[in-house]
Amino acid sequence: GGPPAPRHFLEIMDFDAASLRHMLDLGSRTKRGEVTDRPLAGKTVALIFEKPSTRTRVSFEVGVRQLGGDVVVLSSKDMQLGRGETPKDTARVLSRYVDAVMLRTDDVRKIRELAEYATIPVINGLTDVSHPCQIMADVMTFEEHRGPIAGQVVAWTGDGNNVAQSFIQAAARFGFVLRIATPPELAPPAALVDWARAQGAKIELTNDPKAAVAGARCVVTDAWVSMSDETEGRAPARHNLLAPYQLNAELMKHAAPDAILMHCLPAHRGEEITDEVMDGPQSVIFDEAENRLHAQKGVLLWALAGG
Ligand code: CP
Ligand code: NVA
Repeated sequence: GGPPAPRHFLEIMDFDAASLRHMLDLGSRTKRGEVTDRPLAGKTVALIFEKPSTRTRVSFEVGVRQLGGDVVVLSSKDMQLGRGETPKDTARVLSRYVDAVMLRTDDVRKIRELAEYATIPVINGLTDVSHPCQIMADVMTFEEHRGPIAGQVVAWTGDGNNVAQSFIQAAARFGFVLRIATPPELAPPAALVDWARAQGAKIELTNDPKAAVAGARCVVTDAWVSMSDETEGRAPARHNLLAPYQLNAELMKHAAPDAILMHCLPAHRGEEITDEVMDGPQSVIFDEAENRLHAQKGVLLWALAGG
């Protein structure tokens, strides 16, 4: 009895490989122009941002509209959520008005609470510990350029941040080898690495970016100071720790000759990545940005259109 559980998209780890693959396939079908009706007609999605965004904001709004739906874009600072109304009450109210909620938050506990009490799908648009929509786009991008990702070596260099943590989850589900180079202080959480390994994932941790990148088919990095770190006042310390992990031409020499490189953006040129590699022939960074739109359409179709 009771209504079916809403189709939340909270973490890569919540899904089996077939379900993730299904969402990516739906996204690729929309990209190829094979979804020509308006599957989200009559549906409204609330997009809530506690943090700034360019890609997530625009790709979700455009994606929902292209699928025939409507959006309400909200900044939490303009909402009662931003002055203490609970995620629980917010969930119960929004469930009466809209058909799904996407939230970008600096505290994963808020999206978990929102999802627990929402009777509509809740989609993770980035938290302090995850960015699953990004990783769906990244897997799509890798496979468009280099074929099936299973068994391939992906290298991460830099901070063991939210994006890295979703990559760890994706390694467990999509079956790629993930080598992560971080300073010891900024390693991803051991519990998450243990979880992934227990799922059969091949995760290698090192403090040496060259060792991580050696022979890799794909090299990935991200900001040294993420949005959730900005309040720490430790940006100078992070810059010192992370300088040896810069993604540059010298580091790329250690990757496979046909390696591609990715960055979720926004990039801090001259910090975690150089202009030379970002704008060079191995970069697929702007295809990756485009694929946020297509991958998220797959998630939306799964969550809202029974796809
Ligand atoms: N990559 C990404 O999520 O970008 P935005 O912060 O611009 O949404
Ligand atoms: N790790 C970055 C990703 C931005 C899309 C951050 O959380 O700020």
